[in-house]
Amino acid sequence: MNYRHAFHAGNFADVFKHLVLLSLLQRFRTKEKPFSYVETHAGRGLYDLQGAPARRTEEARAGILKLVPEADWPNEFRDYLELVKDMPGNAEELRWYPGSPLIAQAMLREQDRALLVELHPEEAGELKRILGHDARFSVHCRDGWEALKGLLPPSPRRGLLLVDPPFEKPDEFSDIFAGLDQVQQRWANATVVVWYPIKRRADLEQVYRRLSGGAYGEVLRAEFCLHPDDTDTRLNGAGVFVLRPPWMLDQDIQRWLPELGPALTGQQAFRSRVDWLSAQV
Ligand SMILES: C[S@@+](CC[C@H](N)C(=O)[O-])C[C@H]1O[C@@H](n2cnc3c(N)ncnc32)[C@H](O)[C@@H]1O
Repeated sequence: MNYRHAFHAGNFADVFKHLVLLSLLQRFRTKEKPFSYVETHAGRGLYDLQGAPARRTEEARAGILKLVPEADWPNEFRDYLELVKDMPGNAEELRWYPGSPLIAQAMLREQDRALLVELHPEEAGELKRILGHDARFSVHCRDGWEALKGLLPPSPRRGLLLVDPPFEKPDEFSDIFAGLDQVQQRWANATVVVWYPIKRRADLEQVYRRLSGGAYGEVLRAEFCLHPDDTDTRLNGAGVFVLRPPWMLDQDIQRWLPELGPALTGQQAFRSRVDWLSAQV
């Protein structure tokens, strides 16, 4: 387990993922009814963009730091930027980047609950330190896949699961599908978001086909690429599959996604898509 998210925090793929997450959480908040937020691979929660790992890769420079200073962005970017800027220590300059747990913390209401799983003891320890005082949150240092068996279904049952593994292993999707099968058995009404990297497109075709088969209900796909996707040596883009998305999520994403490429690159020509792999009939 070598992956450390601190090297990648705030990069273009994180920005894309966290904008999708924010759109989802905003939709969940439109109903008064409480919901659960669950993560299998939560990370450490907060990332120092001036720390040694971030300085080594400088990935945030082509990501979150491109969105600052604020231009005439769509509302969704502004909500996200405000949330990022509101992190303690960011008053002067944007130094601290919130991971998905802190984005959730900003969006959860009193009646909502969160259950976060992170395997790396140091990352989980930091997450507990940051969120330990928040009674809505419980943080577990354990294997995220195994936690799906032990911790689901959560209470309340209405809810959202983020699956955001490190993709260190070439066969990460076999764990993902095994995890999705657990969710189907234990928490079948959950909205599930799976983040994935786009390197060589051909590698994803089989995954698209499997999710199109109807076994997982409605599946929305959103993808964002900064580079041509014909090489597997770098991260060309990122995508999410959203199983059983809330109503209108596709349109929410469609509002900001076409703006993301120009915002990050200053160029109009880039590729993104939002479409249904499997739609309700
Ligand atoms: C991509 S990062 C998570 C980033 C986080 N979701 C965010 O958006 O801020 C993946 C995390 O998974 C953790 N991890 C790796 N294998 C794991 C496993 N089997 N179970 C739980 N966590 C794991 C890594 O330590 C790393 O912190």
